[in-house]
Amino acid sequence: MNTKLIFADANGFSTPMLAVFAVDLANGKGTEAQPELLTLSKELADAAARVLGPGEFKAGLGETVLIHLTGSNAADGLKAERLLVVGLGKAKDLSLDKLRKGAGTAVRAAKARTVRDLAIAFPETDALAGESLPELSAKLTARALVEGAELAELDWDTYRSDRKDTSLRELSLLAKASSAATEQATQEGFDEGLIVAAAQNFTRTLVNEPGNVLTPTELGARAKAMCDEAGLGCEVYSTEKIRELKMESFWAVAKGSEQPPALIVMTYEPASEVAKGAPVLGLVGKGITFDSGGISIKPSDGMEKMKYDMAGAAAMIGAMHAIARIKPAVKVVAVVCAAENMPDGRATKPGDVVTAMSGTTIEIVNTDAEGRLVLADGLHYAKTLGATHLIDAATLTGACVVALGTLNAGLFSNDEAACAKFVQALATSDESFWRLPCTDEYRDRITSEIADIMNTGKNRWGGAINAAIFLKEFAGETPWVHLDIAGCAWIEEKKPWIAYGPSGVAVRSILEWVRAYSE
Ligand code: BES
Ligand code: MN
Ligand code: ZN
Repeated sequence: MNTKLIFADANGFSTPMLAVFAVDLANGKGTEAQPELLTLSKELADAAARVLGPGEFKAGLGETVLIHLTGSNAADGLKAERLLVVGLGKAKDLSLDKLRKGAGTAVRAAKARTVRDLAIAFPETDALAGESLPELSAKLTARALVEGAELAELDWDTYRSDRKDTSLRELSLLAKASSAATEQATQEGFDEGLIVAAAQNFTRTLVNEPGNVLTPTELGARAKAMCDEAGLGCEVYSTEKIRELKMESFWAVAKGSEQPPALIVMTYEPASEVAKGAPVLGLVGKGITFDSGGISIKPSDGMEKMKYDMAGAAAMIGAMHAIARIKPAVKVVAVVCAAENMPDGRATKPGDVVTAMSGTTIEIVNTDAEGRLVLADGLHYAKTLGATHLIDAATLTGACVVALGTLNAGLFSNDEAACAKFVQALATSDESFWRLPCTDEYRDRITSEIADIMNTGKNRWGGAINAAIFLKEFAGETPWVHLDIAGCAWIEEKKPWIAYGPSGVAVRSILEWVRAYSE
């Protein structure tokens, strides 16, 4: 898809399909929907009037209606062959998220009809002056639209013999000509959106791959190829180096598999020298390319989903892709611990004790709590590489999904400043994370009788916190943010704006967190 930003009037734009947004002005329950277009164009409003009038189209989020404008349906003053009205929901609830979903809905509606070229008119909220619409900046509006459109382009039909090419050729985002400053902000948001969406889509593509294709070795190869192309440093190590570094916690997970593990280290150096003592950011990702549970094997029901247990790693790889292109003035090193968690004669057994790279001894009570084991060594290793601030992402616990559901991912931190930077980042990334505690009072929940710590809690209460408190042991005094994305990395239901499957969650927020440290 060739995506362009064009400062032009939608009326005169020739296109097979022009998408225009609508919101519902009705307030309160039980009142009839009051759909209204977000455009100042009288011609567009007139053309849409015949479908907005009868009350069938309610402008709900993801709702669309298509009007053909050719032949006897030709509309005065419009050059588009079709007008697609896309609902964004209640006017008062308009948000960047709704715009992202609206743009995605338009793209997927075009794809469903194999319409190859699409134009989307920027929402003109001033069309509804007098209504209390939330204010959205020009920059973030442009960014949301292009992100939503790009995310919507992907379909996971690579392995289907009946796949049809429905990809768009050209997407034109039409913004009204305006002041130089507004146009520049719009352009900046558009450019950033393209970078961010490409990174997020890269992450999603990795997460979508089945475990037999995306082995730890293959994940390493794909990360390396991305880094070479993007100008990042990248080393991919395997068993020998992992053992040499004394990453026995990581190795305890990997050793039951025929597939060798991969330790992927990616580095970004800013072009201009940073001050001495400037932060070095360490990004650490859980890359379990398949989690069977190991000897503590999972029930077979739903086990196929555990190919997405590398979504944290994929988020870090995607974030590095975006970082390479956004070029913040801060050094970043990313460590991905990739392994397959399998039962085997040589696999780790419940009750085994290992010494992590940090020297901490761990009793492995449950081999299915493997994510924290690989991250323990990943976090410690990132520190030895010079990281002064850490962030990790992992599909770490089912308990986090129980606690927060699938709309918010878990956020944990040992440091108020680092956490505040992450929360601030959310305003730009427009993702949803909810903070859970991991204060020292929880520490005795992972105290082992035989070793320093154990890899599960004393009981199942607060399982996401138990995992976080385990990781905190390895972050130590280093400011650290932990993202448990188990519930958000995979979209279970089909939506009008995005395909079922991998979401690419956390890429955008990690990027913005990194930018917050840019000099
Ligand atoms: N990868 C799973 C967590 C998970 C669950 C991710 C559901 C996505 C959806 C993790 O390795 C795991 O198995 N965790 C266990 C920990 C337990 C044994 C302490 C869990 O959550 O049940
Ligand atoms: Mn597991
Ligand atoms: Zn896992």
